[in-house]
Amino acid sequence: MANHVSFFLNGKEVSIQDPSPDLLLIDYLRSPEVALAGPKKPCGQGGCGGCTVILSHWNAAEKKIEHRAINSCLRPVCALGGLVVTTVEGTGAARRPNPAHPDHAPTYSRGGAPIEAPPLPAVVQAHVQTEAKRAKVQTDVRLALRELALDGPELKEVKEEAAEHPSCAVHEGMNPVAYRLAMNNGSQCGYCSVGFVMNMSEFIVNNPKATKKEIEDIFDGNICRCTGYRAILTGMKTFASDWTEEDEKHRMKCI
Ligand code: FES
Ligand code: FES
Repeated sequence: MANHVSFFLNGKEVSIQDPSPDLLLIDYLRSPEVALAGPKKPCGQGGCGGCTVILSHWNAAEKKIEHRAINSCLRPVCALGGLVVTTVEGTGAARRPNPAHPDHAPTYSRGGAPIEAPPLPAVVQAHVQTEAKRAKVQTDVRLALRELALDGPELKEVKEEAAEHPSCAVHEGMNPVAYRLAMNNGSQCGYCSVGFVMNMSEFIVNNPKATKKEIEDIFDGNICRCTGYRAILTGMKTFASDWTEEDEKHRMKCI
């Protein structure tokens, strides 16, 4: 008898040897070894939707992939064999700056460095090197222009607008459901947000032409304790096939 379970987690194959029969998917995901803390465990009994993940499998009879939003607090890891688990982390993310880039290092953590903190030695060194390189390029260009001007046509200096410095986070690559939830003031403490986002992410894939009413109806298993449902549902209903210009006009926008 097999004593291991294999499945895919956010695109990577996972194999667990001798899994405990009472190990639940939510506890496995949030364990220090896996560290996928996106799904939450507010109730642990299938009542709040905070632990929602998407479970996918290949339907051989219909020859298509099926996706289902499930409560990971009710799913034993032992019952995942051959399936695909997608957590919110696997549905995209706002682009983070490259932590290797010294310029971003001081503010990369949540706490961030105080404004008046001295720059890191690596930043100072990079700055000095950049200035030296810039001076050398300017000198070389000046010399080259002088030489060419002796027997060539007059050269004009070409200046281009400097590229915009990448912001610390852009929304490209972010789960569009999460983005619209945020842009409609639908996330206050954020504890329930992942559940709403994953539920909607599955629903809109399976029902791309869903109406506002149909979208509203799928959230009866998601509980929010602080934001209030109006803002959350507005964000979700912007995906509806019957979302109108009038709805758009009256939606409370995030400023
Ligand atoms: Fe799973 Fe509440 S923690 S539904
Ligand atoms: Fe805080 Fe829903 S519980 S945002």
